[in-house]
Amino acid sequence: MKPRMIDIHSHILPFIDDGADDWDCALTMLAKAEAEGIRTIVATPHILSEHNFKNEGSKILQIYDELRTRAKQAGLKIEIIIGSEIYAQPDTSLAHQIATINSNQKYFLIEFPLNSIPRFVPDLLFKFAVDGIVPIIAHPERNAGFLNRYDFVYEYVQRGNLMQINEGSLRGRFGNKPKELAFKMIEHKLAHFVASDGHKKDTRTVTLAESYALVTEKSNKKTAQLLFYENPRRAILGEPIDIGEILPMESELKKSVWQKLKTFSKNQ
Ligand SMILES: [Fe+2]
Repeated sequence: MKPRMIDIHSHILPFIDDGADDWDCALTMLAKAEAEGIRTIVATPHILSEHNFKNEGSKILQIYDELRTRAKQAGLKIEIIIGSEIYAQPDTSLAHQIATINSNQKYFLIEFPLNSIPRFVPDLLFKFAVDGIVPIIAHPERNAGFLNRYDFVYEYVQRGNLMQINEGSLRGRFGNKPKELAFKMIEHKLAHFVASDGHKKDTRTVTLAESYALVTEKSNKKTAQLLFYENPRRAILGEPIDIGEILPMESELKKSVWQKLKTFSKNQ
């Protein structure tokens, strides 16, 4: 039996960003997702992106409605929900019509530049957290800031943020380092979602089945269901997500400094 899965991060809407090229591409992506057992998918077009995808909410909603109609006409049963992927900026607000997942004003997906965690980010995210709005950080395992400081992942989760891993990272698509961090996050209970971040119909598409199997194999089925179904379901419904007991991760950088200090004091 196919596992139940929900994808909370995808670029299936055509003509909006660097995602689906056209209607045919979008419908092929949806058909593939449905065939794998993905029951619900959240369309998360880039908004306020570094690439300047400044689309009005009304245009995005129009395309979203048309895709749902076309999917229905094509006989697809997969449920399509609207959300967005917000590129972090000092003045990021959730005023955009489609800013939060399923417009629930509870969860939103936020991305950082891949080469760092900008300095304004901790304060920005904390402001949302105190208002009870939960940031979901997109693909932290691909971000140089987190890759250099594993302990930051723990700190960000402690401060009320949730973490979404890309399925491709678990398959090694982005190299060994993101793969290692992704699995370590799961092991330390610091990952809350696995999503496709699918952009096209062939490479980097909407797929979760292979990574679901990997998580089942390396952890267990319960963890896979939590990351691929239960937490995504709660995020869409705006229900609380219990992060449970989290385990700290040590920074590789810190460790080496500490080891250096120990060696230094021994030699005195
Ligand atoms: Fe994305």
